[in-house]
Amino acid sequence: MVDFELSEEQVMVRDMARAFAQRELAPFAAAWDRESRFPAAAVAKMGPLGLMGVFVPTDWGGAGFDTVSYVVAMEEISAACASTGTIMSVNNSLTCDPVLKFGDQAQKQRFLAPMAQGKTLGCFALSEPGNGSDAGAAKCTARLSEDGSHYVVNGTKNWITNGPDADTCVLFASTNPDLKNKGISAFVHELPIEGLTVGAHERKLGIKASSTSQLVYDNVKLPVSRRLGQEGDGFKIAMSTLDGGRIGIAAQALGIGRAAYEASLKYALEREAFGQPISRLQAIQFKLADMATRLDAARLLTFRAAILKDRKVRFTKEAAMAKLYASESASAIANQAIQVFGGNGYVEDFPVERHFRDARITEIYEGTSEIQRLVIAVNVIKELGGA
Ligand code: CAA
Repeated sequence: MVDFELSEEQVMVRDMARAFAQRELAPFAAAWDRESRFPAAAVAKMGPLGLMGVFVPTDWGGAGFDTVSYVVAMEEISAACASTGTIMSVNNSLTCDPVLKFGDQAQKQRFLAPMAQGKTLGCFALSEPGNGSDAGAAKCTARLSEDGSHYVVNGTKNWITNGPDADTCVLFASTNPDLKNKGISAFVHELPIEGLTVGAHERKLGIKASSTSQLVYDNVKLPVSRRLGQEGDGFKIAMSTLDGGRIGIAAQALGIGRAAYEASLKYALEREAFGQPISRLQAIQFKLADMATRLDAARLLTFRAAILKDRKVRFTKEAAMAKLYASESASAIANQAIQVFGGNGYVEDFPVERHFRDARITEIYEGTSEIQRLVIAVNVIKELGGA
């Protein structure tokens, strides 16, 4: 069945997120970006609205909506402030989701419920200074103590979104380096914790109001009860978490692309050249047409991946396609938006230079475009019965 209509509940979530985003985020996003200021007060208001645990069941403190609702909410938040979209996506997709799927009752009680309510903030520690795309090559270790009561973690995690502001971390570390990716285990722990140093804020090209840092583990003791799943399950937990995360980033890219498109449309109707609004010029019309078409295609791919996730069937390929297409579209749209604005697109007085900078990260984090192409290729070859 193909149904292009949102349900009443999904429309309600979208309208709620849009109203919040336009009131609480859009008027301030440019200043937060300029000052690289984490929007703590606005994020605190998102918890009670259910935006920090959109698809987490209400039993665990979430809003209990579906993944399509998460997508429409992410698009609205990111259209107003991409940095807030990043903060929200990491909390929902990368920390709530793995604890929901792989955590035991005690872990859900302790970590998931407060995160889903927005009382605590999550981060996801997978990448390291020496490995990003090759996630299975983790050097960070978690050695089991002789009495088997706890792990001792050593190593450095890199580019950790929310790191400086997080209260909870989903961590990946090797409990058996000889086994490569099969030796990686997942943990969930609180911050601050003895032995863990949060590095300096990274100075970034875009999404400047979201915080990013290293996490340096120096003999950090984690009780065995902090392990998510079994020893050696970590790589698969990371990969399946990223499948869901990629839907969130596709939705974020949609939001950024839409904001750049809508700004272009408005500007084209107002700006005059050669005695008429530039929207009458075919050169501009073609750009607007390409932007609108890319956005619709990206949204359909993203909805499909979200619907498959809710049906609890494997959606690895579809999530990769959605993220790949939506992120490259966001960059292309923001790039053309600057062209529509001309000189005005290159200065901070108008929003499109921010959208251009913000869009770029969606082609990199949660798997670069090259990794998405790899994942898609592996899956289409498998579907054809190849190796
Ligand atoms: N779900 C479940 N299991 C999966 C899986 C998935 N999506 N993908 C792979 N696996 C399983 C495989 O089935 C395989 O299992 P078996 O050994 O039992 O057969 C195992 O994992 C290893 O799979 P591969 O051989 O395919 O693994 P690989 O080492 O070749 O890596 C990769 C595959 C796609 C390149 C992967 O490393 C990858 O996705 N890399 C990108 C990492 C990434 O996205 N990093 C983003 C960092 S997080 C971030 O950005 C957060 C932030 O702050 C915003």
